[in-house]
Amino acid sequence: MSKTEEASLNKQSDEIVDSQAEDVVKKDSINEGREITITSLKYNPSNPDSKPTFRDYKLKETPGMTLYIALTKIKSTVDHDLTSDFVCRAGICGACGVLVNGKPQLACKTLTTDYKDGKIELLPLPTFKLIKDLSVDTGTWMKDMSIRVNSWIVANEEVDIAKIEKKIEPEVAEEVFELDRCIECGLCVASCSTAIMREDFVGAVGLNRVARFQIDPHDSRTDEDFYELIGDDDGIFGCMSLLACEDHCPKNLPLQSKIAYMRRKMVKV
Ligand code: SF4
Ligand code: FES
Repeated sequence: MSKTEEASLNKQSDEIVDSQAEDVVKKDSINEGREITITSLKYNPSNPDSKPTFRDYKLKETPGMTLYIALTKIKSTVDHDLTSDFVCRAGICGACGVLVNGKPQLACKTLTTDYKDGKIELLPLPTFKLIKDLSVDTGTWMKDMSIRVNSWIVANEEVDIAKIEKKIEPEVAEEVFELDRCIECGLCVASCSTAIMREDFVGAVGLNRVARFQIDPHDSRTDEDFYELIGDDDGIFGCMSLLACEDHCPKNLPLQSKIAYMRRKMVKV
């Protein structure tokens, strides 16, 4: 092989090595992902020295990263003090609701890739009592609402548990089960203007609950009985039909049609 041929072959081989190295770098940067910035409120209302501030956290995005994963990474590596709630990581427990760039969402069902500029601002859900940073007390709110709307079956007959349960039409059962899918995440409440203005408003979650019992033939309450519970501005007549509850419900419950259904029933009482 001549010297010229050898030099040309060496050049070609260097070019192949360079292009392979470039591919590896590209691949690595895809695996590593872009840098994103998560900004979170930091505030502990039970500490008199605490003042509301925002803190930025920069981290590398990984494939399939949810806000749950991002917050867990921040909490385990950068800021052990950052507080947010999670239980199931699967959109079932309803614990991880936060305001994401102003919209109420479940952190465990929100992908960071949905935010094209990589900037994500997190705030705690409004309406509920702030515990710390992103953690709010939805439990007390839901318990009070459940008591307020008597969220249980009221039957005027003795149930004999030795007998077969009273039959219910499959399509009615399906309707009841559909409304029972509520996970009490509170996103409908956090997105509701009436709930923000009226402290005692039962919200779409409460009105949905009443509709669930009104439909259920096991419950012997009349529409007059339900009117006593929700026939006011903190109940069915407080809703302004702005639809934000249904837009943000992660379980896609038919909240507005059920509110309209109950309103039609209540105006006839
Ligand atoms: S109705 Fe939907 S948004 Fe409201 S608490 Fe239930 S699951 Fe959450
Ligand atoms: S952690 Fe349970 S719904 Fe998100």
